[in-house]
Amino acid sequence: MSNQPFTFTLPFPGYKPSHFDHHIVRRLSDLQGQFFNQQAYDAMLSREDTVLYEVYEVKRPEIEGELLSGISIVHPGKVGDEFFMTKGHFHTVLDTAELYYCLNGEGFMVMETPEGDTAIEALAPGKVLYVPPRWAHRSVCTSRQEDLITFFIYPGNAGHNYGTIEEKGFRKLVLEQDGAIAFVDNPNFKEDK
Ligand code: 6PG
Ligand code: NI
Repeated sequence: MSNQPFTFTLPFPGYKPSHFDHHIVRRLSDLQGQFFNQQAYDAMLSREDTVLYEVYEVKRPEIEGELLSGISIVHPGKVGDEFFMTKGHFHTVLDTAELYYCLNGEGFMVMETPEGDTAIEALAPGKVLYVPPRWAHRSVCTSRQEDLITFFIYPGNAGHNYGTIEEKGFRKLVLEQDGAIAFVDNPNFKEDK
């Protein structure tokens, strides 16, 4: 990997980076057990393994001092009443932060700490979100027709811990109730024993 300075563009519309090293496609089957309405999930998956979101990553050495960046595109849709979302994760190196810049669409970042603090921040074009160290984060697209597109930057050595979220879930869910967006406690959240 060259150590020469480089530029890339995020062309409108779509904002797919002009240079990227990795394209991740996450489907319904990749979020097994993460949506609270399992019946709705199974029915949807039996029809189609829908693409929920995609990530274009600009890779650098995964070491302290380097920065990793890219684009996250969460597509519009719902599983039952629950909006399409990313898997969500803590960083393996817990004390690493992240910046998100929203380019398109509307949605929320659902966040929590290992100690149980929770926060939900709205995302809309032009908004910059600072995710401090120790906060797990999950992007949720609440638009009916627009992709939620964010540009993210995080430390090279951060890593991704998906296991904790896969095992316990997030404490808060983002649902559509009576035509409005509602933040509700996750009935399936698994507290530490
Ligand atoms: C990261 C970022 C971000 C994230 C995507 C997809 O740490 O890499 O938070 O790029 O990976 O938004 O979300 P998931 O990693 O939770 O699938
Ligand atoms: Ni992250």
